[in-house]
Amino acid sequence: MDFKKIFDNNKEWVKEKIKIDKDYFENLGKDQNPEFLYIGCSDSRVTVEEIMGLNPGDAFVHRNIANVVPATDLNSASVIDYAVSHLEVEAIVICGHYACGGVKAAMESEDLGLLNPWLRNIRDVYRLHKKELNAIKCDEERYERLVELNVQEQCVNIIKIASVQKAHRERNLNVYGWVFDIHTGEIVDLKIDFDKILHKIMDIYHLD
Ligand code: CO
Repeated sequence: MDFKKIFDNNKEWVKEKIKIDKDYFENLGKDQNPEFLYIGCSDSRVTVEEIMGLNPGDAFVHRNIANVVPATDLNSASVIDYAVSHLEVEAIVICGHYACGGVKAAMESEDLGLLNPWLRNIRDVYRLHKKELNAIKCDEERYERLVELNVQEQCVNIIKIASVQKAHRERNLNVYGWVFDIHTGEIVDLKIDFDKILHKIMDIYHLD
């Protein structure tokens, strides 16, 4: 990797921005007011701003292996709390992607050391949907379905959070589940229904 190239690119980018708006960086430095929180995979091919045509300031971003939000993960929990309670975002997007290495690894029976507890989150999704997944004979199709179900279950995990339930009730915060189809470049909307999910899990997870 030629890191000098990165600094050269950066200088070019600064020039371009200032050419269009001379106050660009002065304004950028003032504050942030993103409309949504994006939670996606760390995969190098799934670049948030580029695939969605966004600019700096548009999305508050959290990425980890296979876009999971376990209740005990302080990192993602802090990001969600800050986005919901302080930035007051209008929506949270969980975006998975086909050909996700994390999801693939969770489908294989291999000891991956430190990654085991992380990938267990995805194995748990598999266990929850074992009947549906095992009925899919094609390996590739089953893999893609697990990517989708993982996004769906992480949306459910987000809906379990008290501050999210409160913001949904008070200011209609919404949760979206998307999959980036790495083979076509298109984003697929899984059409997550916040109220339907909350209604389904309400007796156990309703906190607000
Ligand atoms: Co991935």
